[in-house]
Parts: sequence; structure tokens; C-alpha cells
Amino acid sequence: MNILYIGDVMAEPGMRAIKRFLPDIKQQYNVDFVIAQAENSNPVGKGPSHKEIDKLKAYGVDCFTGGNHSLSGDGSEELFKDPSVPIVRPANLNTDIGVGYRVIDSPLGLVLVVSMLGQTVGRQLDMRNPLVEIDMIYEATKDQPLVARIVNLHGDFSSEKRVFGYYLDGRFSLVVGDHWHVPTADAMILPNGTAHITDVGMCGTIHSSLGVKTEVIAKRWLTGQSSRNEIEFDGPLQFNAVLTDVDLNTGLAKSILQVQRIES
Ligand SMILES: [Fe+2]
Ligand SMILES: [Fe+2]
Repeated sequence: MNILYIGDVMAEPGMRAIKRFLPDIKQQYNVDFVIAQAENSNPVGKGPSHKEIDKLKAYGVDCFTGGNHSLSGDGSEELFKDPSVPIVRPANLNTDIGVGYRVIDSPLGLVLVVSMLGQTVGRQLDMRNPLVEIDMIYEATKDQPLVARIVNLHGDFSSEKRVFGYYLDGRFSLVVGDHWHVPTADAMILPNGTAHITDVGMCGTIHSSLGVKTEVIAKRWLTGQSSRNEIEFDGPLQFNAVLTDVDLNTGLAKSILQVQRIES
């Protein structure tokens, strides 16, 4: 089973990158199931709403993960309160809004999709221990006839994301890091069959800092005056994802491939 996990869809340029690249990638790699990190998909890059999720579904995404910005946008809370939307927010975030994991019916069987926050992620959030939380979710779902288990760890520390991968090795199909918006060159199958990457990267404009205009940030540095981030809309688009082939008999990964497209 070929599962594609797409990194942070950053504002309108990120949406454009999905529309531009996803259909061809799905065809090229015979993709069976598509997951995308939607925490930055609204026009200001903070939180998704029904509008962005409906568009991304139309472009070919099947379900959505979350991060530190999931509940920040206009319409985000309503989105997460709607049980018909295939989206998860971080499972260890202390909130009653939405759910932290879902078992989703894919064409090839039931897939567990979980989001988790690392212990350090931007401004400090009210959260629980990710290792304790993922063990609880694994136990709660282990008797279900799952064909794949996917978890994304959204966090700042590469060390933490590596430890999380090895902690779940042999229990999950794919442990995928995100939040940096910059891909790492360490996609691999861990010794007990779990596919892992520290960070999958983002979708949006490439000449930017994580999708934000660099000159705005440089000015803030130089002057020390606070200012709002401005999304970079111009320039070539980038698309970053990982493709994992999951063995339907074992639920473990046969391969992991970084899939990157950059406009010339
Ligand atoms: Fe992000
Ligand atoms: Fe994030």
C-alpha cells in the first residue's frame, strides 16, 4: 500500500503547490492514500478551516494532521468540532476540541492516523507527554484490524523526533516529523521495519523562510521592533512529501522515498 505524507501546506502558495504537483505524483507512484499536514493552510498560515480542507480534498488529499497552529485560525475550531472531517489535532494537546487520532477507512483497509506535539514546539503549549500518549493510543487501537499505523511528531528538536521513531520502531508503519518546513536527508527504514524521517519539509514558496518573506524577519532582527509575518506569494513553488510502501500483512514499511518537486 503506497501512502504519501505531505509536509506543512503553507498558506495559498502551499495550496497551489498541492494542486500543481499532487495529481501527477499520485499517478506516477500509484498512491493509495494521501495525508497532509494542514496546520498552516489558511491564508495567514495559521490553522485550517473548512474552506482549505474542502479544496485539499478536491486536489486529492484523503486526511489531515495537525500541529501547534491547528486551532489558531478563523473557523479552525468549527472544523475540528465537525466529526465528518478526516482531520486530527495533536493528541497530547490539552483541549477538548477535536480528536488526536482517527481510524480511517482507506480503499485498502483501516489506517490509524495520529498527530503528536514534541515537547518543544515554538511557544510553550499546554500538552501531555508524547511517549505516554502514543503508548495509550497504540493500546487502545491494537485489536482493530489496521493495515497501517501512521504518526506524525510535530516538534522543534531533531533529537526528540529520532528518539520517537526508534521508540515506535516495529509498532508503526511510518513515524514522520514535521514543523520545521525544511526537509532532512535521513529518510530510512528503522531496524524493526518502521519508516522514519526527521522532517518532511513544506509546500509553498521556496524563496522564503518557512513560507514567510525573509525581509520582514530581517527588519525585525535589525530594529528589534515587533512586526507581523508576511506570507511570500511570489517565486517558484516547492512540494515536499515522503512515500511509504506498507506491507499489508505486517503493517510495516517496505520502503520510504522522499518526493520533492521544485519549480524551475
Ligand atoms: Fe508548520
Ligand atoms: Fe508547526
